[in-house]
Amino acid sequence: MYIVRDLRTKYGPIFTMQMGQRTLIIITSAELIHEALVQKGPIFASRPAESPTRLLFSVGKCTINSAQYGPLWRTLRRNFVTELINPARIRQCSWIRKWAMENHMKRLKKESLETGSVEVMSNCRLTICSILVCICFGAKISETLIKEIEAVLKDVMLMTTPKLPDFLPIFTPLFRKQLQRAKELRRKQMECLVPLVRKRRAFVESGGKDGDPEMVSQIGAAYIDSLFGLEPAGRGRLGEEELVTLCSEVMNAGTDTSATTLEWALLHLVMNQEIQTKLYEEIVESVGKEGMISEEDVEKMSYLGAIVKETFRRHPPSHFVLSHAATKETELGGYTVPADANVEFYTAWVTEDPSVWKDPSEFRPERFLKGDGVDVDVTGSRGVKMMPFGAGRRICPAMTLGTLHVHLLLAKMVQAFKWVAVPDSPPDQTETFAFTVVMKNPLRAVILPRS
Ligand code: HEM
Repeated sequence: MYIVRDLRTKYGPIFTMQMGQRTLIIITSAELIHEALVQKGPIFASRPAESPTRLLFSVGKCTINSAQYGPLWRTLRRNFVTELINPARIRQCSWIRKWAMENHMKRLKKESLETGSVEVMSNCRLTICSILVCICFGAKISETLIKEIEAVLKDVMLMTTPKLPDFLPIFTPLFRKQLQRAKELRRKQMECLVPLVRKRRAFVESGGKDGDPEMVSQIGAAYIDSLFGLEPAGRGRLGEEELVTLCSEVMNAGTDTSATTLEWALLHLVMNQEIQTKLYEEIVESVGKEGMISEEDVEKMSYLGAIVKETFRRHPPSHFVLSHAATKETELGGYTVPADANVEFYTAWVTEDPSVWKDPSEFRPERFLKGDGVDVDVTGSRGVKMMPFGAGRRICPAMTLGTLHVHLLLAKMVQAFKWVAVPDSPPDQTETFAFTVVMKNPLRAVILPRS
């Protein structure tokens, strides 16, 4: 990732890299990103060949994010959009967020009492993961099981992040060792999630009469309910392998991205108390010091929205979108792009570019209220100035839900507590890559109750 930053300076907006057996075409300029993902959207909408490790976790590309551009992808994505993130479903699931937020606040208070401060990332990950487990399986499960699911999820993400052995011929010892470890982890993932799949199936098949106390969402409200009946072309009915994989995809895609955003946002609120005070005042003005913050309330808080957008700009959770591939040989920026190459879009550069953003390294939410961020289209369709969710056909289908999680958690945490640095231990802004770009030394902060 950081190598690409340097190579960009040397080789310009598009260049090729050879990684073992694969050709990577790296694209770094806003104009070429827009040309490929928006103007030539359907051509660049596919995904490249997967390594055997990744194929294991996607059961042969049976996820929305890994499927090639074609009928399987269309069926899975359409189902996800209509079943999981249509506005009525988001409203129907708001009790899940309420329940998870209450647990979140209790956990923060407990950790603060016990240790004198709180760790932001781990708490936010756990809360968002618990929301997504409930959205997927309709189940309210114990914190111990959520922690287990979350730990496996983290291992799967680290395992499936592209690494050197993925690009090596399959007979090398390094590769074989990695595949062995991947198979063990896949077994663990199945052991952890299959019981939930079976419990939910029994609940649905009994018409809700199976009195399992964990099953709390009504039939039809959980993502997996829609998958039980789905028969994608060429795949037929989905088996337990596919069901585990598709639900894990939601948890993988939605947890770290949102938790990372919260960690960076709070870092800036801790370092810049003026911004935090301004946000607190907006919250108090909207709902009062102790008022309930509803999902409709956060949508109306313009300063909160500006802080979150500035966090997406300054710290995009992923510096590249997922790997793309062209559906056929094509041309881009004077280069021939073969259909079997990985096309990698380095989107973080756009938000670091001083010709696009004034003082790009400064964290200044106000730019989204008055200045160079006003009217910025985060979907990139009218031109790319920032694209935390990607752009075009493969844009994140859950950007509204992801943003809602971030808005709600941030507003609740700032309404309840003043966040300050741990004495003699100022936060360290060094970044590191762990699926998303996180703080190398996770943020810890002292929380002071507001009332
Ligand atoms: C702050 C939160 C989030 C951010 C920043 C984010 C960002 C992204 C990005 C950059 C991509 C890749 C786009 C591309 O390849 O061009 C993506 C894809 C995806 N995201 Fe998100 N995401 C977030 C939350 C979520 C949530 C909550 C879910 C699920 C509930 C989700 C589900 C997906 C899926 C299924 C894809 C694959 C789309 C496809 O290939 O067609 N994301 N997201």
